[in-house]
Amino acid sequence: MARMVIAGNWKMNGLTETLAEAEGVMAGLEAAHDNADCVICPPATLVLAMANRARGSRLKVGGQTCHPAESGAHTGDISAEMLADAGASHVILGHSERRADHGESDESVAARVEAALRAGLVPIICVGETLYERDGGHTLDIIAGQLAGSLPDSLNGQDFILAYEPVWAIGTGRTPTLEQIGEVHLAIRERLSQRFGETGQSAPILYGGSMKPGNAGEILGVSEVNGGLIGGASLKAADFLAIYEAAG
Ligand code: PGA
Repeated sequence: MARMVIAGNWKMNGLTETLAEAEGVMAGLEAAHDNADCVICPPATLVLAMANRARGSRLKVGGQTCHPAESGAHTGDISAEMLADAGASHVILGHSERRADHGESDESVAARVEAALRAGLVPIICVGETLYERDGGHTLDIIAGQLAGSLPDSLNGQDFILAYEPVWAIGTGRTPTLEQIGEVHLAIRERLSQRFGETGQSAPILYGGSMKPGNAGEILGVSEVNGGLIGGASLKAADFLAIYEAAG
């Protein structure tokens, strides 16, 4: 049985003052259940400060992407080693916004996953179909292709997290039906188990896309949903904690 994980993706949001929200989450976790891990992935500029403040708390900190290389002439990029050095324990990889805005292919995501493992980070690997692909009836094929291409064999025996995020549900307020979520999560679980055996059975599979306090309980109750990757609703401590509570 996979452990529950509630992860926040702050995207390109947050200044130093916003760390107060993360501190609110840390305080809230003290009084909350501990059936789930809790992670916030702030912009790179805040990873070090958030990790310093989170030390000794139950909050873990992650990056939002990393370069495949350890260091070098890659202006503007950040390596997995740098994230680990700043105190991160996780990193989101292959988010649809990275795939769309920065041309990250499945191969490139797989190389970044290798980098995360090399640096000792837990990768949170994202897959998801567009509305065009869903309407065409191709969702499960698209997901299978992304899983095949984005997950390197070296994940076998390692801690990793998968996130199913339908592109059309991200930031739109629209979510798939519970049946649609369950169908994709079950298909992902089957693929992971076939390919990675026990490792694939215990890897958490998160749902992401317009998850909020009002729908978290029912989504987290779907079979093979082991947590959430939350964008907008992770920016306010109260909302994020309410979602965390729903994972109890
Ligand atoms: P959202 O974003 O919760 O704002 O829809 C989710 C994500 O992109 O990870």
